[in-house]
Amino acid sequence: MKGEEGDVAQSGYTAIIVAAGRGERAGGSTPKQLRVLAGKPVLAWSAERFARDAACRQLIIVTAPELADSVTSCLQTLSVEAMLVNGGATRGASVRAGLDAATEDRVLIHDAARPLLSATLIDRLLAGLEHADGAAPALPVADALVSLSDTVTPVDRTPLRRVQTPQAFHTQVLRRAFGQSGWDAFPDEVSLARTHGLDVVLVEGEERNFKLTWPDDFARAEALINRTGPMAMTITGQGYDVHRLAPGDGLMLCGIRIDCPLRLVGHSDADAGLHALTDAVLGAAGAGDIGQHFPPSDPQWAGASSDRFLLHALKLADEAGVTPLHADITLICERPKIGPNRDAMRARIAELLGLELQRVNIKATTTEGLGFTGRGEGLAAQAVFTGRLEPRDG
Ligand code: CTP
Ligand code: MG
Repeated sequence: MKGEEGDVAQSGYTAIIVAAGRGERAGGSTPKQLRVLAGKPVLAWSAERFARDAACRQLIIVTAPELADSVTSCLQTLSVEAMLVNGGATRGASVRAGLDAATEDRVLIHDAARPLLSATLIDRLLAGLEHADGAAPALPVADALVSLSDTVTPVDRTPLRRVQTPQAFHTQVLRRAFGQSGWDAFPDEVSLARTHGLDVVLVEGEERNFKLTWPDDFARAEALINRTGPMAMTITGQGYDVHRLAPGDGLMLCGIRIDCPLRLVGHSDADAGLHALTDAVLGAAGAGDIGQHFPPSDPQWAGASSDRFLLHALKLADEAGVTPLHADITLICERPKIGPNRDAMRARIAELLGLELQRVNIKATTTEGLGFTGRGEGLAAQAVFTGRLEPRDG
């Protein structure tokens, strides 16, 4: 939800997460969307995924009224902003309630019970939506199938697909389908849309994006998140950046505004802290450097807010199977003073990386008056980023 005009993603979408079910098949005293999965509530995983996507301009969470307080406190802990809407008795009714509150031209409707969707899946859906009314993730069926309708009869699995969420639609088109009678009888938006003759493309789904349905599914999801097999390993990247200091009326550093009689000189907002961190993330992703992705010669990056660079690098890291674990940044300057701004920088970077505060560290040092930093001519920043590298299938 960090989007602005002219962002990396050209236009935005509304994400609707439906979380108003009872989770009866999963059992337990807490509804499955609020059960803790590898350290945070199930709902938090997908809410964070959308909140960190630059193209997500509005996040709607559809919940049961009695769960609203728990959902609100979960979002506050994560610093994720979302609109809460009361759900209905069926999944369809909950989707419809969310749809009524959507403000963007495109909607992505997602089950809270699918915590492990990736950023690239969202990209595939948005690309699919460019030439269709709707787009949904789907996977082939591996097991042999039989029908029990009469006797045990084999079913050809070749043309069958398992359909997941998010399901992406042009908002007005989907609203029209929901305006027709019988809308409540459909298990998902693809089946409703197809009944009304809308054209829906299927994009490649993800095994990780399975729906928590039965009690054993939680252990499977935790195993996927905490995978420690021979293929899993930590990976690091490092980054370094320098920008010139000049008299001015304030500057951006590590994603926050610092009021001081200085400015940082550069083509974008010249936030050397975020640039060093972006390069560190790109390093871990094996994706080159910031100049390759955002050339200073390209006018669209003039004055750009550097959080966009970092979010883009995180998306590339995600594609490469890298999940953030930790970031350590050193700022080298005489001025501005870092101490009074350290907590705000740490909080902002933790938010951008989707990490807890303890996993982000900001250090500052001077160079004892020596060199360009010592003379106050410039500010340098170094960053080390650590992530977990893991295979993304199965
Ligand atoms: N959902 C909803 N409103 C409903 C029913 C379901 O928002 N009235 C949401 C669920 O919270 C879930 C998603 O739809 O995120 C997919 O539904 P399902 O897996 O069936 O979840 P539950 O209905 O909660 O589970 P169960 O059917 O086992 O009770
Ligand atoms: Mg259900």
